[in-house]
Amino acid sequence: MLKSESLRLGFGCSGVLGKRWFSEEKCATILRAAIDAGIVHFDTAGFYGEAEQRLGRVLKDVPADNVFISSKTGTRFDASSNKRGRVVKNFSQNAIIADVEASLKRLHRERLDILYLHGPDTDQIAASEQVFSKLKAQGKIRYAGVCGHGKYLDMAAGVPYIDVVMGKYNILNQAHETVFAKAKKNGKTVVSIAPLMGGLYRKGLFLPTTRSQFWYLARALARNRSDLWQAHTRLNMPKGPGQSQAGQALEFVFENKNIDIALTTTTREDHLQASIAIAQQTP
Ligand SMILES: NC(=O)c1ccc[n+]([C@@H]2O[C@H](COP(=O)([O-])OP(=O)(O)OC[C@H]3O[C@@H](n4cnc5c(N)ncnc54)[C@H](OP(=O)(O)O)[C@@H]3O)[C@@H](O)[C@H]2O)c1
Repeated sequence: MLKSESLRLGFGCSGVLGKRWFSEEKCATILRAAIDAGIVHFDTAGFYGEAEQRLGRVLKDVPADNVFISSKTGTRFDASSNKRGRVVKNFSQNAIIADVEASLKRLHRERLDILYLHGPDTDQIAASEQVFSKLKAQGKIRYAGVCGHGKYLDMAAGVPYIDVVMGKYNILNQAHETVFAKAKKNGKTVVSIAPLMGGLYRKGLFLPTTRSQFWYLARALARNRSDLWQAHTRLNMPKGPGQSQAGQALEFVFENKNIDIALTTTTREDHLQASIAIAQQTP
């Protein structure tokens, strides 16, 4: 289904790349480098700060057939003055349609290749069939996806109106192994996220020197505290000659043949090229 079948690496325009304090020029440079290097699958979301607009501006001159774009719906920041910044969920039909329209506008596209429900519960997945088929019939989206975890992702792997499942999978956490196998058996596309544990699996995590590295460390402490020690221990395990920790972690993900695309993100061109080289070695 996905055009990037030859390269199983996709690129996430998210996190630091969507922050105002991270320059748009640097973001555009890394996105263009990804396109030039043959990455066609780009993932983003309306709630990733400036990420969607920035990706849209870079893609403006790239023909729609040359890239594969996914975005997400259901999560938003409460705009009301007393709750500013609070994350709220809304999977109503109207909210989903409004999210799609806003994403298409920001991305300068006529259609999204995949629209993911971002973290829905089982009722919200069950209620999505109608809106997904409406959006497909209108040509606004090609495929319907669920980005989630545990029993929610397991449900998505089994329902006929979901085409793509997106979940975490990496060298520290393979909890979705059976969900991915089920999804594959049911003919769905499997997209894995956090192949580098959102930066946990990176030498120097605890010695940040740039604002981006501080941000990744803060996010790791906020979201993945329980994995930190394990990641730290794993970092000191022997690796193959010439292999980096990140390379080892990526290879591990690509060894799972149920995974069609592993999505990673980076602010650095050398990291991008290193990840692409690993993806090319493990087709
Ligand atoms: N994680 C989630 O909760 C989540 C949820 C929904 C969707 N997604 C999607 O998945 C994408 C991947 O995000 P993720 O946070 O899960 O990414 P990840 O690839 O697991 O981690 C990214 C981190 O790894 C570092 N890195 C990247 N390539 C590297 C390399 N070759 N060598 C060493 N370090 C490297 C980056 O730092 P540098 O900038 O220094 O390279 C960054 O700190 C997102 O962009 C988004 O589209 C993620």
